[in-house]
Amino acid sequence: MTSTAQGELKQNPKTPVASRFSMRRQKIAEHRKSLPIASVEKRLIEEVQKNDILIIVGETGSGKTTQLPQFLFNAGFCRGGKMVGISQPSCIAAVTVAKRLAEECDVQLGQRVGYSIMFDDTTCSSTSLKYMTDALLLREALVDPLLSRYSVIIVDEAHERTVHTDVLLALLKKVQLDRSIGNKGLEVEAKTNDEIGGVLRGCQISPLKLIYNCSISTIIMSASLDARVFSEYYGGAKALHVQGRQFTVDILYTVHPVTDYAALVITIFQIHLEEKPGDILVFLTGQDEIESVERLVQERLEHLPEDKRKILPLAIFSALPSDQLMRVFAPAPIGFRKVVLATNIAETSITIPGIRYVVDPGRVKARTYDPSKGMETLDAVPTSKAQALQRSGHAGREGPGKCFRLYRQREFEKLEDSTKPEIKRCNLSNVILQLKALGYDDIFGFDFIDKPSSAIVKALAELHLLGALTDDCKLEKPAGDQMARLPLDPVYSRALILANQSNCLEEMLITVAMLSVESIFYDPPREKREEARTSRNHIASVEGDHLTYLGVYRESNEFLEAENSEEAEVDQTLRKWCKDNFVNSRSLKHARDIYRKIRGNVEQMGFNVSSCGNDMLEYRRCLAASFFLKAAQRQMDGTYRALESGEIVHIHPTSVLFRSKPECVIFNELMQTRKKYIKNLTRIDPVWSAHHHYNTEE
Ligand code: CDP
Ligand code: MG
Repeated sequence: MTSTAQGELKQNPKTPVASRFSMRRQKIAEHRKSLPIASVEKRLIEEVQKNDILIIVGETGSGKTTQLPQFLFNAGFCRGGKMVGISQPSCIAAVTVAKRLAEECDVQLGQRVGYSIMFDDTTCSSTSLKYMTDALLLREALVDPLLSRYSVIIVDEAHERTVHTDVLLALLKKVQLDRSIGNKGLEVEAKTNDEIGGVLRGCQISPLKLIYNCSISTIIMSASLDARVFSEYYGGAKALHVQGRQFTVDILYTVHPVTDYAALVITIFQIHLEEKPGDILVFLTGQDEIESVERLVQERLEHLPEDKRKILPLAIFSALPSDQLMRVFAPAPIGFRKVVLATNIAETSITIPGIRYVVDPGRVKARTYDPSKGMETLDAVPTSKAQALQRSGHAGREGPGKCFRLYRQREFEKLEDSTKPEIKRCNLSNVILQLKALGYDDIFGFDFIDKPSSAIVKALAELHLLGALTDDCKLEKPAGDQMARLPLDPVYSRALILANQSNCLEEMLITVAMLSVESIFYDPPREKREEARTSRNHIASVEGDHLTYLGVYRESNEFLEAENSEEAEVDQTLRKWCKDNFVNSRSLKHARDIYRKIRGNVEQMGFNVSSCGNDMLEYRRCLAASFFLKAAQRQMDGTYRALESGEIVHIHPTSVLFRSKPECVIFNELMQTRKKYIKNLTRIDPVWSAHHHYNTEE
């Protein structure tokens, strides 16, 4: 079952193809008409015409993301080659919604409707409705500071308050002002240089309309509060509430705390065997967890009698190739029950039809950041109450449903009410570098909705250390500029710049690509562990994880070359190699895509991609120089001390250096479970990081 068309093929083998498609079209038209937002189309358009800023609050699934852009298109907001831009908090949302809309409008993706995400752009000059990540829209402002091709920008899921959304809020406010000053022409008395700049730049451009979409679940009373925050930030902007549909959802808690996947899998099968038809949505923290649960479900399935096996597990997470993302939206074959294993992405920004049951272990992968130590971690933490409510709401979109919370009720009472905006809990060097490149020198004067003061100070200091900013905090040329243009964390961009100078750019591109994906190796079932260990010993490098990843990438490449596969067979050949070597093929494939994209980026910047061949010393020195901010030294007791923060950390058991415990290492990731662990390590010589005489000004 790979696509909707096939799904219907199986269900109705006798229906001719043409009529099947027209049936599908008719179904979509009916679905569109039945959405809560459909009845207020006229009113919404009137309000957009009347107001330059509008806040729309509505339940998830009411049609804000898919319908509003079509209303605007029909009302003429895309005339004269203008676009409606819709920013999304994640790549998955941008991709799946654009694909859905192309289907609804019956157009080819990339024509009237398209998406653009960091490593994948499907839009062309005739695109009118453009879905993109909030991070990408921010990047577009680098090239076109007035966002002059857009007539309307919709900031979708604004309530999620991702760091990029928060920066966009302030930036769009400024862009809107610049465009309206320009529109009134030179009669306006522009007082400041900034304003005069705005007048000159903004001439001939119509005002920019801004719409902020917030998703809520009716049961969340604080939702109106969210809208108020936005409204006040925009000087009393109008907020509209779109009435949605929400059926009752029975909430069930566990009696005892749940600590393992077994209980989760049992819950899934209990629902499958005892409850009425309806699909199941399970919230997990990431690709790793999803793939483990997927395997457990498959294993258990084999122990069921034949007639009870009609269960279809489907995964959705960001590293999934875009052609596989849409499978979760297609209906399950008749008699089958879909079990969607999703990350937090399914919480608000995508709505999957058919869901009746939600299983919520109550955890989410979130960033935390301690500016005083400069330490950012990405860990699984308890959800907030608001998130738990959003999750359970999915069980009641199409009828009454049930939500199984895998924790005790008293634990729910202890949860935080809502999630802290991401800008308050992440490293800001990336966005601040973007703002600097946009010409905003006064970061403290920037109109953030929630100003993260200490994180700003820390980010400026870090960017200075990385050679992106001068002593007086101006953009360093060309390094700072180059770093801002690469779609990567500044630390990785700098690693590429350094590698370019030491002739190991090829190796560093591979490294950065491999570090950008989740777990290259996977945990095999128990009976295969020994075999996996032997196979891994053969690939593992004594120098550390970075060289091991490099080895994996190169070996898989050599295998592909030796097999001489046709273009169409590459995937299959790669999967075979991965299986034999206990490598996660989805991750490796994703890394290969990222490699290709960033290689293109650096080549565009005029870098010549050269390789150091087998001279691993040069490459390791370059790693040390690139990641010197994250060096750690072994202590007498075998623990490590992170040099910048002074924290005591441990080598993660998955690292190839777990047993050898070298004296000094650099690491890329810090995670907190029972202890603080460092991941992705390379052994370095202590003297290297002490004086990193690399020149970033070449
Ligand atoms: O943005 P909002 O949460 O208000 O709703 P939406 O994402 O526009 O979704 C409207 C409807 O379209 C929901 O009922 C979804 O189930 C459906 N939809 C779908 O069937 N397939 C998709 N790929 C996206 C949405
Ligand atoms: Mg939406």
